[in-house]
Amino acid sequence: MWDLQRYESDGFLVVHDAVSARTCDDLRARAAELVDGFDPGSQRSVFSSAAQRTSVDDYFLASANTIGFFYEPGALGPHGEPCVPKAQAINKMGHALHDLDPVFDAFSRTDQLANLCRQLGMVRPLLMQSMYIFKQPGIGGEVRCHQDATFLYTQPQNMLGLWFALEDATVQNGCLWAIPGAHQEGLKSRFLYDAATHTTRFSVADESPWPMDRLVALEVPKGTMILLHGLCPHLSYVNTSRRSRHAYTLHITDGTSDYPQDNWLRRAPQFPPWGFVSNPHGRSLHAL
Ligand code: FE2
Repeated sequence: MWDLQRYESDGFLVVHDAVSARTCDDLRARAAELVDGFDPGSQRSVFSSAAQRTSVDDYFLASANTIGFFYEPGALGPHGEPCVPKAQAINKMGHALHDLDPVFDAFSRTDQLANLCRQLGMVRPLLMQSMYIFKQPGIGGEVRCHQDATFLYTQPQNMLGLWFALEDATVQNGCLWAIPGAHQEGLKSRFLYDAATHTTRFSVADESPWPMDRLVALEVPKGTMILLHGLCPHLSYVNTSRRSRHAYTLHITDGTSDYPQDNWLRRAPQFPPWGFVSNPHGRSLHAL
Protein backbone atom coordinates (compact mmCIF):
# COMPACT_ATOMS: atom_id res chain seq x y z
CA MET A 1 0.00 0.00 0.00
CA TRP A 2 2.82 2.41 0.83
CA ASP A 3 6.03 2.72 -1.17
CA LEU A 4 8.20 2.28 1.89
CA GLN A 5 11.27 1.61 -0.25
CA ARG A 6 10.96 5.14 -1.59
CA TYR A 7 10.46 6.44 1.96
CA GLU A 8 13.68 4.73 3.01
CA SER A 9 15.65 6.16 0.08
CA ASP A 10 14.21 9.72 0.01
CA GLY A 11 13.48 10.17 3.72
CA PHE A 12 9.92 11.21 2.95
CA LEU A 13 6.91 9.86 1.09
CA VAL A 14 3.93 11.70 -0.37
CA VAL A 15 0.67 9.74 -0.08
CA HIS A 16 -2.17 11.31 -2.02
CA ASP A 17 -5.83 10.91 -1.01
CA ALA A 18 -4.95 9.65 2.45
CA VAL A 19 -7.69 11.71 4.09
CA SER A 20 -11.13 12.57 2.74
CA ALA A 21 -12.08 16.19 2.06
CA ARG A 22 -14.87 15.82 4.60
CA THR A 23 -12.45 14.74 7.33
CA CYS A 24 -10.10 17.63 6.49
CA ASP A 25 -13.04 20.01 6.85
CA ASP A 26 -14.08 18.40 10.15
CA LEU A 27 -10.57 18.87 11.56
CA ARG A 28 -10.48 22.48 10.40
CA ALA A 29 -13.86 23.12 12.00
CA ARG A 30 -12.69 21.57 15.26
CA ALA A 31 -9.50 23.67 15.20
CA ALA A 32 -11.62 26.79 14.73
CA GLU A 33 -13.73 25.81 17.74
CA LEU A 34 -10.64 25.31 19.88
CA VAL A 35 -9.22 28.69 18.88
CA ASP A 36 -12.60 30.30 19.53
CA GLY A 37 -12.62 28.82 23.04
CA PHE A 38 -9.07 29.94 23.79
CA ASP A 39 -8.82 32.89 26.16
CA PRO A 40 -5.35 34.39 25.78
CA GLY A 41 -5.71 36.65 28.82
CA SER A 42 -2.85 39.11 28.93
CA GLN A 43 -0.10 36.64 28.09
CA ARG A 44 0.55 35.68 24.49
CA SER A 45 3.18 33.16 23.57
CA VAL A 46 4.73 33.57 20.14
CA PHE A 47 6.13 30.76 18.05
CA SER A 48 9.03 31.72 15.84
CA SER A 49 11.33 29.17 14.27
CA ALA A 50 14.08 31.82 14.30
CA ALA A 51 13.58 32.83 17.94
CA GLN A 52 13.52 29.17 19.02
CA ARG A 53 17.23 29.16 18.28
CA THR A 54 17.77 31.18 21.44
CA SER A 55 14.96 30.41 23.83
CA VAL A 56 11.45 29.15 24.44
CA ASP A 57 9.16 30.18 27.27
CA ASP A 58 7.51 28.26 30.12
CA TYR A 59 4.23 28.17 28.23
CA PHE A 60 5.96 26.32 25.40
CA LEU A 61 7.61 23.82 27.75
CA ALA A 62 4.31 23.13 29.54
CA SER A 63 2.57 22.48 26.26
CA ALA A 64 3.98 18.94 26.16
CA ASN A 65 1.01 18.13 28.42
CA THR A 66 -1.58 20.58 27.19
CA ILE A 67 -3.05 22.22 24.11
CA GLY A 68 -1.07 25.44 23.85
CA PHE A 69 -1.81 28.28 21.44
CA PHE A 70 1.10 30.12 19.86
CA TYR A 71 0.87 33.39 17.97
CA GLU A 72 2.40 34.35 14.66
CA PRO A 73 5.13 36.94 15.29
CA GLY A 74 3.51 39.11 12.64
CA ALA A 75 0.15 39.04 14.46
CA LEU A 76 1.32 41.14 17.42
CA GLY A 77 2.29 44.77 17.63
CA PRO A 78 5.41 46.19 19.34
CA HIS A 79 3.85 45.90 22.80
CA GLY A 80 2.42 42.43 22.25
CA GLU A 81 -1.00 43.69 21.31
CA PRO A 82 -2.86 41.68 18.63
CA CYS A 83 -3.01 43.34 15.20
CA VAL A 84 -5.43 40.85 13.66
CA PRO A 85 -8.44 38.87 14.97
CA LYS A 86 -7.56 35.82 17.07
CA ALA A 87 -8.70 33.39 14.37
CA GLN A 88 -6.07 34.82 12.00
CA ALA A 89 -3.35 35.31 14.63
CA ILE A 90 -2.52 31.78 15.81
CA ASN A 91 0.57 30.12 14.31
CA LYS A 92 -0.06 26.69 15.82
CA MET A 93 -1.68 24.63 18.57
CA GLY A 94 0.18 21.84 20.33
CA HIS A 95 1.46 19.53 21.62
CA ALA A 96 -0.96 17.05 23.27
CA LEU A 97 -3.85 17.76 20.94
CA HIS A 98 -4.00 14.09 19.91
CA ASP A 99 -4.51 13.03 23.53
CA LEU A 100 -6.67 15.79 24.93
CA ASP A 101 -9.12 16.53 22.16
CA PRO A 102 -11.53 13.71 21.18
CA VAL A 103 -11.68 14.74 17.50
CA PHE A 104 -7.91 14.76 17.04
CA ASP A 105 -7.59 11.65 19.22
CA ALA A 106 -9.91 9.73 16.87
CA PHE A 107 -8.15 11.04 13.77
CA SER A 108 -4.71 10.16 15.12
CA ARG A 109 -5.52 6.65 16.33
CA THR A 110 -6.62 4.61 13.34
CA ASP A 111 -5.90 1.07 12.22
CA GLN A 112 -4.37 2.52 9.05
CA LEU A 113 -1.74 4.51 10.94
CA ALA A 114 -1.10 1.68 13.39
CA ASN A 115 -0.52 -0.61 10.42
CA LEU A 116 1.86 1.91 8.85
CA CYS A 117 3.95 2.04 12.02
CA ARG A 118 4.01 -1.77 12.14
CA GLN A 119 5.20 -1.92 8.53
CA LEU A 120 7.97 0.52 9.38
CA GLY A 121 9.14 -1.90 12.05
CA MET A 122 7.92 -0.07 15.12
CA VAL A 123 7.36 -2.45 18.02
CA ARG A 124 5.67 -0.12 20.51
CA PRO A 125 4.62 3.07 18.73
CA LEU A 126 4.02 6.05 21.00
CA LEU A 127 2.14 9.13 19.84
CA MET A 128 4.45 11.72 21.34
CA GLN A 129 3.23 15.05 20.07
CA SER A 130 0.87 16.74 17.66
CA MET A 131 0.54 20.19 16.17
CA TYR A 132 -2.11 21.98 14.22
CA ILE A 133 -0.37 24.52 12.01
CA PHE A 134 -2.38 27.41 10.56
CA LYS A 135 0.20 29.10 8.30
CA GLN A 136 -1.96 32.21 8.26
CA PRO A 137 -2.43 34.22 5.04
CA GLY A 138 0.18 36.93 4.62
CA ILE A 139 1.90 36.36 7.98
CA GLY A 140 2.30 32.56 8.28
CA GLY A 141 5.90 32.40 9.49
CA GLU A 142 8.87 30.61 7.99
CA VAL A 143 9.98 27.34 9.59
CA ARG A 144 13.69 27.06 9.01
CA CYS A 145 15.37 23.93 7.72
CA HIS A 146 15.47 21.34 10.48
CA GLN A 147 15.25 17.65 11.29
CA ASP A 148 12.37 16.64 13.55
CA ALA A 149 14.70 14.32 15.50
CA THR A 150 16.48 17.48 16.70
CA PHE A 151 13.41 18.12 18.84
CA LEU A 152 12.42 14.50 19.54
CA TYR A 153 15.56 12.45 19.96
CA THR A 154 15.58 8.73 20.59
CA GLN A 155 18.38 6.21 20.71
CA PRO A 156 18.31 4.56 18.22
CA GLN A 157 16.65 7.21 16.06
CA ASN A 158 13.24 6.01 14.92
CA MET A 159 11.01 9.06 15.00
CA LEU A 160 8.35 9.24 12.30
CA GLY A 161 6.52 12.40 11.37
CA LEU A 162 3.13 12.39 9.67
CA TRP A 163 2.06 15.64 8.03
CA PHE A 164 -1.51 15.98 6.80
CA ALA A 165 -2.49 18.71 4.33
CA LEU A 166 -5.91 19.97 5.42
CA GLU A 167 -5.84 22.50 2.59
CA ASP A 168 -3.98 22.60 -0.72
CA ALA A 169 -0.31 23.36 -0.01
CA THR A 170 1.50 25.33 -2.71
CA VAL A 171 4.73 27.27 -3.06
CA GLN A 172 2.68 30.44 -2.66
CA ASN A 173 1.04 29.54 0.66
CA GLY A 174 4.08 27.89 2.24
CA CYS A 175 4.18 24.20 1.35
CA LEU A 176 6.78 21.83 2.78
CA TRP A 177 10.18 21.54 1.11
CA ALA A 178 12.52 18.62 1.76
CA ILE A 179 15.97 17.39 0.74
CA PRO A 180 15.73 13.87 -0.75
CA GLY A 181 18.26 11.41 0.65
CA ALA A 182 19.74 13.84 3.18
CA HIS A 183 18.30 11.83 6.09
CA GLN A 184 21.19 9.45 5.48
CA GLU A 185 23.69 12.14 6.45
CA GLY A 186 23.04 12.03 10.20
CA LEU A 187 21.59 14.31 12.84
CA LYS A 188 23.03 17.83 12.87
CA SER A 189 21.80 19.08 16.24
CA ARG A 190 19.72 18.43 19.31
CA PHE A 191 17.39 20.77 21.17
CA LEU A 192 18.14 20.15 24.84
CA TYR A 193 16.32 20.89 28.08
CA ASP A 194 18.43 21.67 31.14
CA ALA A 195 16.43 20.79 34.26
CA ALA A 196 18.85 22.64 36.57
CA THR A 197 18.28 25.98 34.88
CA HIS A 198 14.88 25.26 33.29
CA THR A 199 16.24 26.48 29.98
CA THR A 200 16.72 25.08 26.49
CA ARG A 201 19.61 25.22 24.09
CA PHE A 202 20.84 23.67 20.87
CA SER A 203 23.75 21.26 20.85
CA VAL A 204 25.25 21.27 17.36
CA ALA A 205 27.20 18.24 16.16
CA ASP A 206 27.58 19.27 12.52
CA GLU A 207 27.78 22.90 11.47
CA SER A 208 27.98 22.23 7.74
CA PRO A 209 25.24 23.95 5.73
CA TRP A 210 22.25 22.07 4.42
CA PRO A 211 22.54 21.13 0.72
CA MET A 212 19.81 23.60 -0.18
CA ASP A 213 20.41 23.13 -3.90
CA ARG A 214 18.79 19.71 -3.47
CA LEU A 215 15.56 21.06 -1.92
CA VAL A 216 12.33 20.00 -3.60
CA ALA A 217 8.93 21.61 -3.10
CA LEU A 218 6.23 19.25 -1.88
CA GLU A 219 3.19 20.93 -3.38
CA VAL A 220 0.27 18.69 -2.46
CA PRO A 221 -3.51 18.82 -2.58
CA LYS A 222 -5.76 18.76 0.46
CA GLY A 223 -6.04 15.26 1.93
CA THR A 224 -2.41 14.31 1.26
CA MET A 225 -0.31 12.67 3.97
CA ILE A 226 3.47 13.14 3.93
CA LEU A 227 5.65 10.70 5.86
CA LEU A 228 8.78 12.37 7.18
CA HIS A 229 11.76 10.43 8.49
CA GLY A 230 13.04 11.99 11.72
CA LEU A 231 16.34 12.85 10.03
CA CYS A 232 14.83 14.32 6.85
CA PRO A 233 15.75 18.02 6.54
CA HIS A 234 12.66 20.05 5.70
CA LEU A 235 11.34 23.59 5.90
CA SER A 236 8.53 25.87 4.86
CA TYR A 237 8.73 29.49 3.78
CA VAL A 238 6.55 32.42 4.76
CA ASN A 239 3.01 32.30 3.49
CA THR A 240 2.88 35.38 1.30
CA SER A 241 -0.44 34.45 -0.28
CA ARG A 242 -3.99 35.34 0.71
CA ARG A 243 -4.80 31.70 1.45
CA SER A 244 -4.08 29.82 4.66
CA ARG A 245 -2.29 26.48 4.61
CA HIS A 246 -3.64 24.40 7.46
CA ALA A 247 -1.86 21.16 8.33
CA TYR A 248 -1.89 18.64 11.18
CA THR A 249 1.26 16.83 12.22
CA LEU A 250 1.78 13.82 14.42
CA HIS A 251 5.15 12.66 15.72
CA ILE A 252 5.57 9.01 16.68
CA THR A 253 8.49 7.20 18.31
CA ASP A 254 9.11 3.56 19.20
CA GLY A 255 8.75 3.04 22.95
CA THR A 256 11.41 0.32 22.84
CA SER A 257 14.09 2.96 22.17
CA ASP A 258 15.74 5.15 24.79
CA TYR A 259 14.12 8.56 25.29
CA PRO A 260 16.65 10.85 27.01
CA GLN A 261 15.33 13.08 29.77
CA ASP A 262 16.98 16.11 28.22
CA ASN A 263 14.47 16.13 25.37
CA TRP A 264 12.39 19.32 25.68
CA LEU A 265 9.17 17.30 25.39
CA ARG A 266 8.65 15.82 28.83
CA ARG A 267 5.29 14.36 29.66
CA ALA A 268 4.08 14.47 33.26
CA PRO A 269 4.46 11.14 35.14
CA GLN A 270 0.68 10.77 35.40
CA PHE A 271 0.31 11.46 31.67
CA PRO A 272 2.77 9.24 29.83
CA PRO A 273 2.42 8.98 26.04
CA TRP A 274 0.64 5.98 24.59
CA GLY A 275 0.06 4.31 21.24
CA PHE A 276 -2.94 3.46 19.10
CA VAL A 277 -5.11 1.98 21.84
CA SER A 278 -7.90 4.02 23.36
CA ASN A 279 -7.05 6.12 26.39
CA PRO A 280 -5.26 3.78 28.85
CA HIS A 281 -5.54 6.23 31.72
CA GLY A 282 -9.10 5.08 32.33
CA ARG A 283 -10.55 8.53 32.91
CA SER A 284 -11.81 11.45 30.93
CA LEU A 285 -9.14 12.91 28.71
CA HIS A 286 -10.41 16.35 29.68
CA ALA A 287 -9.74 15.57 33.34
CA LEU A 288 -6.07 14.96 32.75
FE1 FE2 B 1 9.38 19.59 11.20
